[in-house]
Amino acid sequence: MLRAGIIGCGGITERRHGPVLVAHDGVELVALADVNQQRLQLLGDRHLVPEAARYTDYEKMLAHAELDIVHVCTPHDLHEAPAIAAMEAGGLPGLTSRGQRRGAGMLRTFDGLDPRMARGPLGATVAGHRR
Ligand SMILES: NC(=O)c1ccc[n+]([C@@H]2O[C@H](COP(=O)([O-])OP(=O)(O)OC[C@H]3O[C@@H](n4cnc5c(N)ncnc54)[C@H](O)[C@@H]3O)[C@@H](O)[C@H]2O)c1
Repeated sequence: MLRAGIIGCGGITERRHGPVLVAHDGVELVALADVNQQRLQLLGDRHLVPEAARYTDYEKMLAHAELDIVHVCTPHDLHEAPAIAAMEAGGLPGLTSRGQRRGAGMLRTFDGLDPRMARGPLGATVAGHRR
């Protein structure tokens, strides 16, 4: 069973990432991070993530939650730092990006990060997807 965490508990996590991860037989959603306590509580309660595994600081989540997969669901301009931190922590980030043009830009941003990705036990996949 893969241990998954999500950084950013906003609309797309509520509608897609949370439900998809908890519905997957091979994945357990074990940790959440958001700077907004209300969003953290809403999604944590809904998906039965223990309070001790709800973090307002994603760096602490990455340090303590022993994750295999990290979904980065922060706003566009806040994708890069948590994604790099997740890769450095050895997780497998899955990024979310609205629209192909922004997704392509994000992929270019990550072109130069191969050495960091290689540090993780699973490697890394970066995916921008269409609306
Ligand atoms: N492809 C699609 O179909 C699709 C649809 C919707 C959203 N998206 C993308 O998903 C991303 C998130 O969108 P959304 O609609 O959920 O946005 P949102 O604003 O509803 O949620 C973003 C969340 O990230 C949190 N956040 C901000 N900074 C943070 C930090 N440092 N640490 C932890 N959490 C932090 C915010 O508090 C908020 O809860 C965007 O890039 C958006 O374009 C893609």
